[in-house]
Amino acid sequence: MTTAERAKEPLITDDWRVSSRIYRDPTIFARELSRVFGRTWVFVAHESEIPTGGDYKTAYIGRQPLIVNRAADDGAINVMFNRCRHRGSAVCQREFGNANFFRCAYHGWTYNSAGELVGVPFDDGYGPDFDKAAMGLVHVPRAESYRGFVFVSLDPSIEPLADYLGNARRYLDFIADIGVSGPELVSHAHKLVYRGNWKLQIENTIDPYHFSFTHKSWLDILKDRTGKSSPWVKNVRTNPDWRGIDLGGGHAVHEYGRLEQAGENAHAIGIGELIPFNLNIFPSLAFVGAHLRLVVPRSVDETWVYLYPLLPKDADEHVRDRILRDHEIFYGPAGFGSTDDIEVGFDRVMRGIEGSASPADWTLMSRGLDREVVDEAAGIRIGRSSDEVPQRAYLRRWLGLMEDCDE
Ligand code: FES
Ligand SMILES: [Fe+2]
Repeated sequence: MTTAERAKEPLITDDWRVSSRIYRDPTIFARELSRVFGRTWVFVAHESEIPTGGDYKTAYIGRQPLIVNRAADDGAINVMFNRCRHRGSAVCQREFGNANFFRCAYHGWTYNSAGELVGVPFDDGYGPDFDKAAMGLVHVPRAESYRGFVFVSLDPSIEPLADYLGNARRYLDFIADIGVSGPELVSHAHKLVYRGNWKLQIENTIDPYHFSFTHKSWLDILKDRTGKSSPWVKNVRTNPDWRGIDLGGGHAVHEYGRLEQAGENAHAIGIGELIPFNLNIFPSLAFVGAHLRLVVPRSVDETWVYLYPLLPKDADEHVRDRILRDHEIFYGPAGFGSTDDIEVGFDRVMRGIEGSASPADWTLMSRGLDREVVDEAAGIRIGRSSDEVPQRAYLRRWLGLMEDCDE
């Protein structure tokens, strides 16, 4: 098959063969930035990251650089493009901090925390028509908060955030209600970078199928510590309450037991078990164990991942310490989990799919297709723990956006 012929092949077939082009083709990546990240609600911050006037963080929607801050005067949350209106320099360099003004380092233009241009050095150079009021930092078209989670959209006509979240709201509510007064992200994030496509991290986030293979060394350590084998494999294979659910809209969840019985069904893999499910919110937000995970695409083969431990606001120091230590041991830079996923789930996949000359230049995402249960009324599909229901959930929405001709 020639390259031209291959380009005409469907990206995803009815029997869920997924073209490997979607992970390595720069033209598809460029389309994703406009079709997927340009038309959805994208998470950028939790309100606890910017609790007081002047607090800010830098963030991204796709590759668009943003400043998210709480205005110093009225406490409103602003989300603005992090690009100077003079000659385009990124105005703010730090990942978080507190500032009443942002001064561009290039020629000194200065903006207040609402983004208004308040200072132009030597401002006699622009003539009488120069409209300073129209030259502030540009705000993104839409920004909304749902129970403390701040999302933005580049699409001015997008549906309200609560509607967009749909069936995922119930799970986000559970997280927002952690402890007595919800979680806070005060320990900030640790960031990992891998040389692979961003969608590999989304697919890996709800994937109980891989755990006992990719993370075997971790399960062996746990066995040494506790003297008994983890019930993980048995649960993945036979526990009817361990379910992968397509929530509609690209969102998906894997429940470790019914939500109503949360706490009684600990999955016992020692990675922090604050949340009794793994949740993907399309396109780039996830929750696993005891952390919020944010996926930031940089290029077709470079991805940044931010992991923010979730700390119950009212928990005592001992509980917060335990959450952080559990998080570090599996996900931290010297932990036992993230390193496995980067090597096995991302690096090796990217290397394998360079085999584009293979007539089978696709991956298989059909696991459990013939046994998933579709609930039309609720708009959900339910599969077994090891099925690829969550992966199909996000790819179904992804494909719909990528193929939408309404541009
Ligand atoms: S680019 Fe910002 S002041 Fe010139
Ligand atoms: Fe993993």
